Amino acid sequence: MFALLVSGKSVAAEDDVIMQRIGSGDPATGRETSESERCQECHGQDGNSDDGRIPSHAGQYAGYLIKQLRDFQSGARKHPVMSVIAEDLSEADMADIAAYFASQKRRQGSSEAGSVAASNLFSSGDQVRAIEACANCHGEGGKGRSADNVIYPAIGGQHKTYLSVQLVNWKLGERSNSPDGVMNRIAKALTDDEIEALSTYLSGL
Ligand code: HEC
Ligand code: HEC
Repeated sequence: MFALLVSGKSVAAEDDVIMQRIGSGDPATGRETSESERCQECHGQDGNSDDGRIPSHAGQYAGYLIKQLRDFQSGARKHPVMSVIAEDLSEADMADIAAYFASQKRRQGSSEAGSVAASNLFSSGDQVRAIEACANCHGEGGKGRSADNVIYPAIGGQHKTYLSVQLVNWKLGERSNSPDGVMNRIAKALTDDEIEALSTYLSGL
């Protein structure tokens, strides 16, 4: 089992959120499997990576991580390294590894303050261009959310470089595995400067 660091009245509610994030896998087994499968070498021992191009998984929704691994396996999402690494993972290994990373505490990706424009786009979107607020889906502080069988990944505190690469890939259509192409539609409406500013803002959350 994992230790909860929270105390006080909100324990039950926090507990529920963390349990929902972890899903059905076993974090203790996942800790061992993610070490023997060498995930930790790139994604960090506690799921906080030290390389801006490699996403941190700490505090990420397990269900989202599993979906990405399945997408790497099926080819719905492509990456020269991850497509090969995901190939031989069993469903049980994926669930356990994802549970372990989901149970860890995310470290902030940067201490850079974001711009007001990026903060507004995040919280309110831009009606004129039909850009929905990121927070509507990704939750307050970009902590992620799960609703109606869709998992909206945690994007707050993620590395700036990784975030901007993903947003550019959604914009160019090089990544296209979001439900109904929602992220392609949103990223296409963003300018390159906005992608940069949003990535800075999000990594500082
Ligand atoms: C050699 C380095 C390396 C190793 C080892 C590695 N990864 Fe990755 N992983 C990456 C990189 C780089 C990306 C970003 C891919 C991209 O830019 O689309 C990534 C992305 C991912 C993602 C998508 C995350 C997201 O937020 O969408 C998941 C899930 C993942 N890795 C899981 C794993 C698991 C599980 C293992 C071990 C079985 C593993 N990785 C081993 C480098 C690595
Ligand atoms: C209508 C809902 C919705 C809105 C609004 C939305 N997103 Fe997303 N986003 C998603 C979903 C769903 C995914 C997961 C896609 C998948 O399963 O691969 C996602 C994935 C992402 C990812 C990839 C995360 C990773 O770890 O690879 C980034 C980055 C992202 N969104 C940024 C944004 C930003 C920035 C905004 C606001 C400008 C935004 N999103 C608005 C639904 C949304």
